[in-house]
Amino acid sequence: MSISRRDFLGAGAAAAAGLALPTLAGAEPVISNIVDRAARPAPRPASRPVIISAANGMEKDPEGKQGIKVAWDLLAGGADPLDAIVAGVNVVELNPNDQSVGLGGLPDEDGVVQVDASCMHGPSKRAGAVGCLEDIADAAAVAKAVMDFTDHIFLVGEGAKRFAIEMGFKPQNLLTDKSRRDWLRWKADLNPDDNWLNLPARRPAGAPKGGRGGRDDETLQQSLHVYYDARGVPHTYGTINMNVVTASGDIASVTTTSGLSWKIPGRVGDSPIIGAGQYCDNEVGAAGSTGRGEANMKVCGGFLAVEFMRQGMSPTEACMKVMERVVAMTESRLLDEHGRPYFDLQYYAVNKKGEYGAAMAYQGADPDHPTSFAVCDDKGARLEPFAYMYTYDQRPKGRPMSGTLVIPK
Ligand code: GLY
Repeated sequence: MSISRRDFLGAGAAAAAGLALPTLAGAEPVISNIVDRAARPAPRPASRPVIISAANGMEKDPEGKQGIKVAWDLLAGGADPLDAIVAGVNVVELNPNDQSVGLGGLPDEDGVVQVDASCMHGPSKRAGAVGCLEDIADAAAVAKAVMDFTDHIFLVGEGAKRFAIEMGFKPQNLLTDKSRRDWLRWKADLNPDDNWLNLPARRPAGAPKGGRGGRDDETLQQSLHVYYDARGVPHTYGTINMNVVTASGDIASVTTTSGLSWKIPGRVGDSPIIGAGQYCDNEVGAAGSTGRGEANMKVCGGFLAVEFMRQGMSPTEACMKVMERVVAMTESRLLDEHGRPYFDLQYYAVNKKGEYGAAMAYQGADPDHPTSFAVCDDKGARLEPFAYMYTYDQRPKGRPMSGTLVIPK
């Protein structure tokens, strides 16, 4: 089935302009002081259809494909919104150069890549998820298969892998040569008294800098999804979340990840947790996250952002308000003397009208290249800056803040 460009764009934009979000009786939007103080971009006009994702939705895979564009083109061709964004994030899952998702993801402490994913389909009110899935790159599609073909919502570990193979997904080793070498370097530097030789610190060629909030300083090179520590070891909590609102106002969401690098085998982050890594309510909107899953899980951030939008907050305000809740729910060992977290986290949200926004804890390093998320609408695919709670200068000094947890000394 295909739809005309007029149906795809025109009807949605008109509907979006006049649409009111359902509001809880008597509930007034509560915008905190933090939200008032923090940097927020000007409100964006509603436009449908619209897709937003983490910035790696704009990354080009070895064939030059961009996940968010693939999703957009499928949507324009009449695809179901969840099918479109699952195909969009699959570009990132199959890209061996993205070390935060799927094939090529950084492994656990045993050198095994375990992937997590979840998705929700607004029109049918259904959801699916997989956790600790090994040897299958297409975690988001497996999560959708759980949704489509079973009466369950969440499969993990060996059972999830068996299910995926039964559904026709092809097993493969997800550990690329680069990630295997990075794992050996991480292992070698763990303990100076073990039998692994400690390699001299090395600035890796091609390590990310600039652009998406990275900067090249004495101790680290970092980007939104992977940063290199002073020993040349990459770390990540990187993930991709993608959310869509169609021209007619249907909504879907998906999140997929290889999770925290060097994690304890069996660790599951926020990505496959419905209501944390992503959430979608077809009457209100969708939201999801990337970054430190342990922080997001405690606030059910995807769900909370959607509930804040239900109360009338804009997507950006909802994301900022969730970030504020994250800080309020952070144990003191992970806060500096000013009460600021030693980690970063990002939220992305769209509402039924087609308004969108995203927020993170800390501003990126380079104001000329602000840390960004990806959006695609009738104006094309592009990066736009995050709202943030704290400026770059307010970060605890000399410590990597994105993609890793740094325990205060
Ligand atoms: N947000 C991805 C993870 O913590 O696993």
